[in-house]
Amino acid sequence: MAKKLKILIFPDPRLRKVAKKVIKFDKSLEILANDMLKTMYEANGIGLAATQVDFHVRLVVMDISEDRNDPKIFVNPMYQVLDNYKLYEFEEGCLSIPGFNEIISRPDKIELTWQDLTGKEHKDYPEGLLTVCIQHEIDHLDGKLMVDYVSALKRDRVRKRLLKELNRK
Ligand code: NI
Repeated sequence: MAKKLKILIFPDPRLRKVAKKVIKFDKSLEILANDMLKTMYEANGIGLAATQVDFHVRLVVMDISEDRNDPKIFVNPMYQVLDNYKLYEFEEGCLSIPGFNEIISRPDKIELTWQDLTGKEHKDYPEGLLTVCIQHEIDHLDGKLMVDYVSALKRDRVRKRLLKELNRK
């Protein structure tokens, strides 16, 4: 049975760690991916990076389908922005930054490569929501958060609010 993991909340410094490449495609990787999917679904998120549950390996889970039954797992995901991209604006949220939504602009055309749980390599040219979502999640693996894209003032405001909420618990 998959178990629910604890999601780190900004400004927890562990969210700033850079995740290591997965080299062992073993049972423990599969267990982590399934635990992350359960955690993501229970939190009503559309994506979750291992960094957010304090595992610093390059693993992302996602489900952007409307009926929430299309789980996707990306091991060692990487992307390159294609030449003919435009900026796509999307109001993003993040399970590690509760109550914070901001419109972020990201390139809308990328080449995405990743491995599955067996280590097999895949390549795709995603569009729309998947494109921005995977960029958001890969940012997590690099210790980057969506608050890094907004003004220092806004970032400071959300940091203070979340610290206050943490101290009340
Ligand atoms: Ni996030």
